[in-house]
Parts: sequence; C-alpha cells; structure tokens
Amino acid sequence: MSIINYIEKFRKLNRELFTTPSHGQGGFIIPDSGKYLGNKVFECDYSETDGFDNLSNPTGIIRDLMSYAADVYDSKATFFLTNGSTSGIIAAMLSVLRKNDKVLIARNCHRSVYNGLVLTGAIPIWIMPQYNKEWAIFESVNFEYMEEILSKNKDIKAIIVTNPTYEGVMSDIYRISHICKKYNVILIVDEAHGALWNFHKALGTPALMQGADIVIQSLHKTAGALNPSALLHVGKESFIDTKIIQDSLNLLNTTSPSYPLLLNIESTIRYLDSEKGKFYIYDLVKNINRFIRSIKSIPNLQVYYGNNDITKILLKVTNLTGYELSNILFEKYGIEDEMANEQSLLLLTGVGTTKKKLKRLEKALFELCSDNIKIVKDTDNLYHYSPVEPRVRYTPSLVWNAAYKEIEIKYALSKIAMEVILDYPPGVPILLPGEIIKKEHIEYLQFKNKLKIKVLA
Ligand SMILES: Cc1ncc(COP(=O)(O)O)c(C=O)c1O
Repeated sequence: MSIINYIEKFRKLNRELFTTPSHGQGGFIIPDSGKYLGNKVFECDYSETDGFDNLSNPTGIIRDLMSYAADVYDSKATFFLTNGSTSGIIAAMLSVLRKNDKVLIARNCHRSVYNGLVLTGAIPIWIMPQYNKEWAIFESVNFEYMEEILSKNKDIKAIIVTNPTYEGVMSDIYRISHICKKYNVILIVDEAHGALWNFHKALGTPALMQGADIVIQSLHKTAGALNPSALLHVGKESFIDTKIIQDSLNLLNTTSPSYPLLLNIESTIRYLDSEKGKFYIYDLVKNINRFIRSIKSIPNLQVYYGNNDITKILLKVTNLTGYELSNILFEKYGIEDEMANEQSLLLLTGVGTTKKKLKRLEKALFELCSDNIKIVKDTDNLYHYSPVEPRVRYTPSLVWNAAYKEIEIKYALSKIAMEVILDYPPGVPILLPGEIIKKEHIEYLQFKNKLKIKVLA
C-alpha cells in the first residue's frame, strides 16, 4: 500500500471530516499559503484519519511502506523521520544509552549528538579525527586508535561516527564495525550526507552494508526530498530491538506528523529505487565526474581528492582563501556555496543539480581563475583553526540548565563553559557545556570578536 494511492482512494469516498487539520484538505486555503505552496500540499495534509495509519504506532499503510523501505535498503527496519536526521540521531542515542553510559564519539559530529548527550545523560569520550590543515577539514577517524580506546574502556556502550563528513570524507566503517563487534559495542553512523549511496556504487558504501547497528540518512540533503525528510535504519544483523527505536522516536516526535512529508519520503524512495531513478543518479554521477575532470584542468585550482563522496565538491584556488573565493563567486557570479573556510570552499550537489547548473559554475571558475587573481590572500585576518582536544569536566546533561554567569572572554581560562560554541557550518562543536575552557578557545573566541561567554556559576 502507498500513501499516494490511499489519498487518491480516500478522496473518492467523499467523506466530510470534522477533524484536524481544520483547513479540511483545502476546504479553505489561506491565500498566500496557497499561492506559494500550491493547493496540493493542503489536499495531502491529513491527520490519523480513518485508514491513514499512525506514525507513532504503524499498523497499516505506514507499516507497509516502512517494510517496503526496509526491503529497498536491506535493513532489519527502516523508520520515516519528518524531523530530520537530528531526530534520528537523538532517537538512536535514547535507544541505546542510559545515564552514565560511556559513548565514544568522533568530535566532528553534528550538534544533534550534543542534544542526545543532554537527553540521555551519557558520558562522552571524544576522539579527534585527523585534521587536514591544507584544506581546513576533518578527515577520517583512525580505527586503530578507536580500538585502543575500546580496549582500555571496556564499559563503552556505543560509538557514534559521522560518515561521510559534511565535506564528504569517508572513514573505514567496515573496520570500525568489526572492532565494535569484537568489543560488543553498538555502532551508530550519522550518514546524513550519504542518502544516495544505496543507489550508486561510485558514491560510497552504505554503513548498513558494513555492519553498522543504526544508520541515519537525510533524504533532503542530497536525495531530492523536501526539508527535513530523513530515515533511520536498523542493521539486519543488529540485536537492537526495533520497538525501542519506535518508543524513542515517540518521545521526540509530534503527534501530528506531516503527511505531505511522509508522501514525499515515499515518492523519493520509490523514485530512487526505480529504473528511471537509477538512471537519473547514474547520469548525475556522470555529469559531476565530467565537471570535476574539466575544472581540474584549470590552472591555480585544486579539487580535493581523497576518500570522499564526489557529490561534495571541495575546491581551493591559489592566492585565495575559501572565504575570498566564496565572496567572488557570490558577488560576481551569483553562485552561493555550502561552506567556506580559511582554505577551501564546499559546493553541494545531488538530485536537482542539473547539467546547466554545473555548466554555470564551471564557466565561472574558468573565468575567475583566468582573471589574473589580484587579491593577495589576506592571511593576517585569518584564524588558523586547529582542533582542540576537549576536556570534559561535567557531562552535558549534568550542567544542562545549571546556574551560569557571563564573564569577559579574557577571564575565562580554566572556567567551565556553559555555551555551545560551534563554527557553523559545519556545526562541529568547538566547546560544549561542561568542558574546560583552554587558551586556544580563548584565542578563537577573541578572534571571532566575542566579548563574553557563559560559564558555570
Ligand atoms: C553531519 C550531519 N548530521 C546530521 C545533520 C542533521 O540533519 P537534518 O538537517 O536532517 O536534521 C546534519 C545537518 O546539517 C549534518 O551535517
């Protein structure tokens, strides 16, 4: 069964609904909402009306759809998320961690992992992935170092890894999952940026196929769905009880999930899994590869090439910082990037990245680089980020809502932070509540012209 088919069928029944949502599937549409969203969104917007099933306890069409998705992804169970990977990551943590459980986390994680730490009361043990100063990005996590930590901390319950990273870099999930099995540790993989991997081998190998227990993917990031459609998968071999995942999701989710988003999740999976969809992705990958080959011939331009997903194009141009390159692309060519740092610039592609779009970017890059770049890299005004090993004094949950005071940055050394300090994007934490403020943090905050910081009172 399908939400799409059921809506068609339901409309023919000619029922009169005295239920939420009150717009009555378009009985009246607020004019500007209709103008910009289209009437169809309202026509598909139901609550748990007769036959529409219930996302918090699926027994009908949603259950059937999720089991179809589990077949597509070859998972033990797949859950539809209408509140992004953020909700999936937190639900995964709530499912496997309890208060004071230890969890090993690669520090280049998304902010939602911090939220999960607050809600679970788990104790984070941070592992720093390799940092590439040439590109100013985190690279993969060292699985041997992970094993060393696990061998010394036999009470670690779970590991959380972001794969691929925001910039597309991959870690060796296969090795990590083997280590996890050896030490009886649950592996959660944030694959928010890898939602196309199941549909093209050249992009990356899905963590589900490499033995991860829980994998979370954002369908809206690269796979063409609306914000914030996502999926949570449980690995086929995992011993995790899928009921606990549902219960955890129910702690977080609204009781009025969006049917337009559920429909969008269904149609996205069906399309990606179809011959047409596979051909579309095949063509997309071909176009991106062609684009990369072409821009590699540009003098002064470098494309990041490591163990990475090619839908994330990381570039740098001699004599320009990533910020400067970003400004020129924006001001002169009307091209907006995903992220820039002191070294490089990130351009995201995916479903919707047309040949025409790539051509425009390609032309701009050729022109820009042959333009005799006169801007001399403004290195004086650059902060050279270097990852700082966190020192956790209190867990995020212990200091959540604790009394704090605001002090000037210059007096903050060795105090305990009560703020989340992130560089956004990518949103990787630099300092989290409960961590001791180091000299390097102060330098960073002063560079960012931050005058005050909240510290534990
Ligand atoms: C690595 C990573 N994980 C998780 C998320 C959260 O995803 P969502 O926007 O689907 O909640 C993001 C969002 O930027 C991300 O970059």
